[in-house]
Amino acid sequence: MRILDQLYEGKAKKVFATDDPQLLVVRYKDDATAFNGLKKGTISGKGIINNQMSNFFMERLEAEGIQTHFVKELDKRETLVKKVSIVPLEVIVRNIAAGSFSKRYGVEEGLEFEQPTIEFSYKNDALGDPLINEYHAVALSLATRKEIEQIKRYAFEINDFLKKFWKECGITLVDFKLEFGRLENGAIVLADEISPDTSRLWDSKTHEKLDKDRFRRDLGGVEEAYDEVMKRMMRHE
Ligand code: TMP
Repeated sequence: MRILDQLYEGKAKKVFATDDPQLLVVRYKDDATAFNGLKKGTISGKGIINNQMSNFFMERLEAEGIQTHFVKELDKRETLVKKVSIVPLEVIVRNIAAGSFSKRYGVEEGLEFEQPTIEFSYKNDALGDPLINEYHAVALSLATRKEIEQIKRYAFEINDFLKKFWKECGITLVDFKLEFGRLENGAIVLADEISPDTSRLWDSKTHEKLDKDRFRRDLGGVEEAYDEVMKRMMRHE
């Protein structure tokens, strides 16, 4: 397998073509942004942690019967993935109120829900990723009704798996964002990443934030937090 031209550079990753038209290489960067790119910085070593953590979870989720884009880790920052057409929805699952949910509904961060919630944002930087409902997503042909049902089933299954896993690491999974893609045969697969960039992870005892909120909110100790969650993930195995 040969790595060919760069196809795309996003805020946190670069994507390259390969000599196999069905496969791409993703390279994780240390660049960090927040608030739709308004805040910029570097989280040293983040690319390695996000790559390895995403691959670890995708392998586990495959074993649970959830299809993903993961093929093979190539090196500490690079992974071979299946080429998908990304469904332009950010799928956010929440167990505990925080972030934009707390702000929108005027509830304190830390309010625990009886049932997990799900919401969608339209992946569109020019519009600032606005919240969107399922009917609007279908009306805009972003996904079919059937695809949205599959995405919701997967998202809650992934939540069950991750919540249990992180609990065993002494970490509370507050919320996280997923992205899905379509294979050529139309199957929906989990794509993108699962990492402290895209999840809220709180120490179960102290409630200390161990995720990208440390960067978003200038709390300091960003690298240390990423190292800590990675260490606990690897200790769990
Ligand atoms: P929010 O509370 O800001 O809407 O974030 C919910 C979750 O989604 C949180 O775990 C962080 C993650 N997230 C992303 O992965 N990318 C984004 O662009 C945003 C805004 C949030």
